[in-house]
Amino acid sequence: MSEVKVASSNGIPPPSFDLPLPDRPDIITANIQKLIEQTPNPRHRFIFKTLVKHLHQFVNETSLTTDEWMAAIDFLTRTGQKCTPLRQETILLSDILGVSALVDSLNNPVAGGATENSVLGPFFTEDAADVEFGESIASEGKGDYMYVEGRILTTEGQPIPNAIIDTWETDADGFYDTQYADRSHPDCRGRLRSDDDGRFGYRAVVPIAYPVPGDGPVGELLCLLGRHNMRPNHLHMMVEAPGFHKLVTALYPEGCDYLRSDCVFGVKKSLVVSLKDIVDDEEARKRGFPRGGSFKLLQYDIILLTEEQSAAIRTRVEEERGVITGDEKY
Ligand SMILES: [Fe+2]
Repeated sequence: MSEVKVASSNGIPPPSFDLPLPDRPDIITANIQKLIEQTPNPRHRFIFKTLVKHLHQFVNETSLTTDEWMAAIDFLTRTGQKCTPLRQETILLSDILGVSALVDSLNNPVAGGATENSVLGPFFTEDAADVEFGESIASEGKGDYMYVEGRILTTEGQPIPNAIIDTWETDADGFYDTQYADRSHPDCRGRLRSDDDGRFGYRAVVPIAYPVPGDGPVGELLCLLGRHNMRPNHLHMMVEAPGFHKLVTALYPEGCDYLRSDCVFGVKKSLVVSLKDIVDDEEARKRGFPRGGSFKLLQYDIILLTEEQSAAIRTRVEEERGVITGDEKY
């Protein structure tokens, strides 16, 4: 005998209280808020109460038309459908609306001169090659020479040896290696370790400003808003050391036209760096640049917070802002 399927609920019974029938718009809002009160997890309850409050307020404030709401749903549908294992259009939407940068900033406040964070972006990979002190992360011909050096330090100025530094950047055409269909090995990216004095140094190329993908729904939205889709040129760095708060950041050479209008809001004043022009063939060859000639020098010390310092700063900042988190976080 074949099994008969019966339409059934998810097993959750109706609420123990009666809700008024939603004869007026404001009753719809009140009813859903009452239902959300039943959410078992306090953090979920708080997040969804707040989300619905603002979402309903948005619909009311804008007197949103049915056509506009359907256009929004169509946009979100196409945004999801554009995603593939290699293309994340939903993250891009979060990025260009400033939400990624906002979440990042609120979750990683710094103090005591520690290096500020910046958005991770979609181009980090796990397969970067190990690079020794002074070696190059970029194969020859990938762009103008740049030497990057500095120290990894505590907020007291003590060196942090053996920190793992992941770094990645675009080539001279403004592309990451992962954007090439024929990518056979990682390029313009590497993994280094700081030495006993906390020092690091490596050869790279001068990164180039690049557009975020413009051929999807998020690209359409940027055009609709009259916004460009460019990021200023930058060098990504991710630094980890035992006992220290992981840092995800990027350094932005000054002088780029897009520095003050980064389409994903990643630039912070403390992360803007000046590149020194070193026009000295001997020095270039000494640093290992095969063509010699000249190179740009980027010098920057990275200051890490301990896990304890980071947690204490987050708590202090939340208290200062009077953040209501809704009982407890799960
Ligand atoms: Fe990037």
